[in-house]
Formats: sequence, structure tokens, C-alpha cells
Amino acid sequence: MNDKITKIDIITRPEMLDELKAALNEIGVEGMTVSQVFGCGVQKGHKEIYRGRAYDINLLPKVKVETVVCEVPVEKVLNTAQEILCTGEHGDGKIFVYELANAVRIRTGQQGTAAIIDEK
Ligand SMILES: Nc1ncnc2c1ncn2[C@@H]1O[C@H](COP(=O)(O)OP(=O)(O)OP(=O)(O)O)[C@@H](O)[C@H]1O
Ligand SMILES: [Mg+2]
Repeated sequence: MNDKITKIDIITRPEMLDELKAALNEIGVEGMTVSQVFGCGVQKGHKEIYRGRAYDINLLPKVKVETVVCEVPVEKVLNTAQEILCTGEHGDGKIFVYELANAVRIRTGQQGTAAIIDEK
């Protein structure tokens, strides 16, 4: 069993959320948190097209999908996100990967991987 717990943040275009969510469910992702956020990458929000027009402001609407996994391989999450989200255009998004120190399932007090995995 894998004792490592990993948090993966995927920040991408809002219109990709449904497809990304479905693909992550498909590979057995163990939970997720989704937020509407504003952000910019190296272009600082310029030169990027959103809904057919070039934005002249610095922060563009994005979605952030946060998922914490232990049984599902991190590489699988990364590959799935890449497959779904890569158009080759600026603004496709970014993925950040963190080692997580701990997790607690509040209902049971379970910690670590037991807090993430489905008990069945
Ligand atoms: N260094 C960063 N730190 C925190 N958030 C970031 C960073 N880079 C990108 N993001 C977030 O990811 C979103 C998408 O970034 P984006 O895809 O434009 O990255 P990029 O590095 O500029 O790549 P590209 O050249 O393909 O546009 C940003 O709007 C922002 O919310
Ligand atoms: Mg960019």
C-alpha cells in the first residue's frame, strides 16, 4: 500500500471543468475541491484569448481543481489532465504537486491514507 499522500492542484480554463472532472472520476480520484479563481501566468494575462477576445486586464478567470490522492498514481492524474487540457495555446494552465503531511476524516478521526481511501 502506498503511504504517501499527494495534493495536486490543477489550474485551467473554466470551460474545461466538466470534461476534466469526468476524466478524474474515471481514473478513481478520491475527492476534489473546485474553486473559481483569477490568475495569470508568465504572459501576465495579456496575449491570451478568453471567449474570443484578447483581454487587456492582468487576471483571467480560471478554475482550480484540488485533489488529494494516495491510491491513484500521481502520474495518472498528471497524464489525464494533460490529455484533456492541452490545446497548445497560452493559458492552458498549470499543475502543482505537493507532498501532504497528513489528512483527517472528521467523522471517524482516521488519519493519513485511511482518511483518503474509501473504507468500503
Ligand atoms: N507561477 C505561478 N504561480 C501561481 N499560479 C500560477 C503560476 N503560473 C500560472 N499560475 C496559474 O495558472 C493559470 C494558468 O497559467 P498559464 O497557463 O497562463 O501559465 P503559463 O506559465 O503562462 O503558461 P503558457 O505560456 O502556456 O500560458 C494562471 O492564470 C494562474 O492562475
Ligand atoms: Mg500564460
